[in-house]
Amino acid sequence: MPVNYDQAVEYYDATRGYRDGVVERYREALLNHTGADASARILEVGIGSGLIAQAFYPVARHYVGIDFSLGMMRLIGGKLAGERRPLLAQANARFLPFAAGSFDIAHAVRVFHHLPDWRDCIDEARRLLRSGGALVIVEMIPPAGAGRPPWGIVQDKWDEILQDLGVSADGGDQGIWLTDDAVRQYIRATGGRAHVLDLLRYWEKPVSPRIMVERRAAGMFSSDWRLPQVIHQEASRALRDWLERDCEAPDDMVEREMLFRAVIARW
Ligand SMILES: C[S@@+](CC[C@H](N)C(=O)[O-])C[C@H]1O[C@@H](n2cnc3c(N)ncnc32)[C@H](O)[C@@H]1O
Repeated sequence: MPVNYDQAVEYYDATRGYRDGVVERYREALLNHTGADASARILEVGIGSGLIAQAFYPVARHYVGIDFSLGMMRLIGGKLAGERRPLLAQANARFLPFAAGSFDIAHAVRVFHHLPDWRDCIDEARRLLRSGGALVIVEMIPPAGAGRPPWGIVQDKWDEILQDLGVSADGGDQGIWLTDDAVRQYIRATGGRAHVLDLLRYWEKPVSPRIMVERRAAGMFSSDWRLPQVIHQEASRALRDWLERDCEAPDDMVEREMLFRAVIARW
């Protein structure tokens, strides 16, 4: 069963949204690196609330999104100007309701780390691409050498607390942004060509340690959703205690630099 993002609808855009101009820069980088133009048939796998798609709608003539979460996709309409209706389907990335060869480009942003069956999802995207079309798998990572923001310590503290409670902190994500090699190897094993590209660097919106603690305590991270409620409550209490007692500068708002890293594959 795919991760259930319906539970994030209330706060997703407020906590995961980008600064002005970032998604437009992503669109330009994607089109440049794939050689696509406005007439390309583009599929977005895991379109979510349309944070990325909103940059494509004004320019792309054929843009289709799929997501498992209906709740997330319901937020897309509010981002569209005028009467325009998005072309959307509720589907699991593993079984997509389109004919073979329907698209020139398939891209997925911040999705593949949620897919335990990512190899099957690559196979499915490949089926939908015309020969020579591009699959672009994108995850956000901090660029090499980027300083760690002071609120990064909240994550360390959370992991430590969970460990003390005898629970694994990663919650089962695939960590695919760390394993580009595995993705490339798989693509090559299926007869494709793949390369890794740093598409663009950008600054996230600033946050403070307190904001991160409150997001964690409110269960706003997908890794929270896999924890037993009693563990999550206990860990949140310990995290808040730490914030009040030991955290330096809990209210300092600090931004972090990040990178859109892409694996681009063609067959
Ligand atoms: C972190 S959100 C990213 C949304 C959007 N791409 C963005 O960058 O804002 C992950 C999205 O992937 C979707 N998702 C996760 N697993 C999926 C699956 N197996 N099939 C379809 N969608 C999936 C979730 O419902 C969610 O909307």
